[in-house]
Amino acid sequence: MAKLAVNVDHVATVREARGINYPDPVFAAGIAEMAGAECIICHLREDRRHINDRDLRLLKETVKTRLNMEMAAVDEMLGIAIDIRPDMVTLVPEKREELTTEGGLDVIAKPDQYRRVAESLKNKGIRVSFFVDPDPAQIEMAHRVGGDIIEIHTGHYSDARNELEAEERFKRIVKAVETAHSLDLGISAGHGLDYINIKRFSVLPQVEEYSIGHVIVSKAIYVGFEKAVREMMEIVKGF
Ligand code: PXP
Repeated sequence: MAKLAVNVDHVATVREARGINYPDPVFAAGIAEMAGAECIICHLREDRRHINDRDLRLLKETVKTRLNMEMAAVDEMLGIAIDIRPDMVTLVPEKREELTTEGGLDVIAKPDQYRRVAESLKNKGIRVSFFVDPDPAQIEMAHRVGGDIIEIHTGHYSDARNELEAEERFKRIVKAVETAHSLDLGISAGHGLDYINIKRFSVLPQVEEYSIGHVIVSKAIYVGFEKAVREMMEIVKGF
């Protein structure tokens, strides 16, 4: 049965809009776990625009399920991950000017860098996931350089403007899932998924986990965080 991993970055985004100490992503993570989330995700960005070092430290101390730290494959973040020891790390591309993570990793362009970072993390017992576009060549390279898991970037699919486009883009995801499954990689998916567009994934039992943040935090404004998480849990568990 697929799992729901809740990303709490945008709770911190609201906090940072005022530069004060609430709402707290650590508190939100506890509520998400009470609502049934089986993993908590946060992205420590180089510019600390939402999650900061204190959040990561406290999440490590308080998360009872599993903590997934998203980070760029750079030495500063590697040092922090090795110090904090999240249960897993998802390597993501990072550009300072982007609004959110815009594309998947280009593992093919820098295999040695990714291999080195993945090995250092795995030597400390941290599982490593690669956030990649639904591209079989990138998935194969992520496997070659030591990835345990791939997270398929669903942003392109989520941005589809009509059903036809969505179906076309979903076909690429199906192919990517088949590639990853044949390589025995763990498979997760995320970015831009919402309460409606996620339903197409019910035909992909190979996807073990969904990584969802923005739409849950958005819905929480209307219905509360616990209910927003529970409603997504019900969809994922119904697959
Ligand atoms: N997975 C990764 C690697 C991400 O960077 C993000 C965005 O923070 C997500 C999943 C979640 O995307 P969203 O906030 O659109 O649900």
